[in-house]
Amino acid sequence: MGEADKRLKVAVLGCGSVGAQVVRLLMEQSDDLAARVGARVELVGVAVRRLDAQRDVEVPDGLLTTDAAGLAAREDVDLVIEVIGGIEPARSLILSALENGASVVTANKALLAEDGPTLFEAAAKAERDLYYEAAVAGAIPILRPLRESLAGDKVTRVLGIVNGTTNFILDKMDSSGAGFSEALEEAQDLGYAEADPTADVEGFDAAAKAAILASLAFHSRVTASDV
Ligand SMILES: NC(=O)c1ccc[n+]([C@@H]2O[C@H](COP(=O)([O-])OP(=O)(O)OC[C@H]3O[C@@H](n4cnc5c(N)ncnc54)[C@H](OP(=O)(O)O)[C@@H]3O)[C@@H](O)[C@H]2O)c1
Repeated sequence: MGEADKRLKVAVLGCGSVGAQVVRLLMEQSDDLAARVGARVELVGVAVRRLDAQRDVEVPDGLLTTDAAGLAAREDVDLVIEVIGGIEPARSLILSALENGASVVTANKALLAEDGPTLFEAAAKAERDLYYEAAVAGAIPILRPLRESLAGDKVTRVLGIVNGTTNFILDKMDSSGAGFSEALEEAQDLGYAEADPTADVEGFDAAAKAAILASLAFHSRVTASDV
């Protein structure tokens, strides 16, 4: 098979806020990706809960499916991208993908913070890759440097603002004297906060990120419930 014929078959699990943009980029940047990856990235399926939901991307005909388990387990798939979120069925789907020979990329901080080691062990056993760079501080190179470049260094402290929504709210309250509900409402209007802001304002999102960062920085097992 010539270079030009090489294919990397990709399945995406979830097509919500994050998944829709992943699907869009995979399609729009197909030529760029082919040049960079050295193989044409072929989207082979997108798993969702509801086939008829309104989406921010037009998924090509025949690719949407509600059979996430079947898609994750397909033996011809090289890479499974999990952007469903939550613990189950995300965990079972990732484990099944690895067992069936695919590498996995996930943005699922809740799952990594709760049960990361199970996923890492499964990836090691299957000799497949498991990447999760976007689960914490997506655009900032932090997880991979901690895991690779700084692996031999002794990290003494990790400091950072990890939750954009609460950072916006606190900043607003501080700079304009706005009350909490008012600042939250503005964050929601601007699309920074979700309709259900519990994960952000109750600190669960920050706790999951702290657990993932601490586990990597201090070579220990820290779960979200420890934070
Ligand atoms: N949103 C962010 O800014 C952000 C940033 C970093 C990381 N993340 C992480 O990215 C992940 C996804 O977040 P999101 O905001 O994109 O979530 P979301 O908008 O709620 O999307 C979830 C998607 O998963 C699908 N889904 C749910 N249950 C399913 C099931 N059992 N089988 C198949 N598909 C199922 C939903 O299908 P339907 O569309 O049919 O309902 C939807 O397309 C989470 O782990 C989150 O923590 C999000």
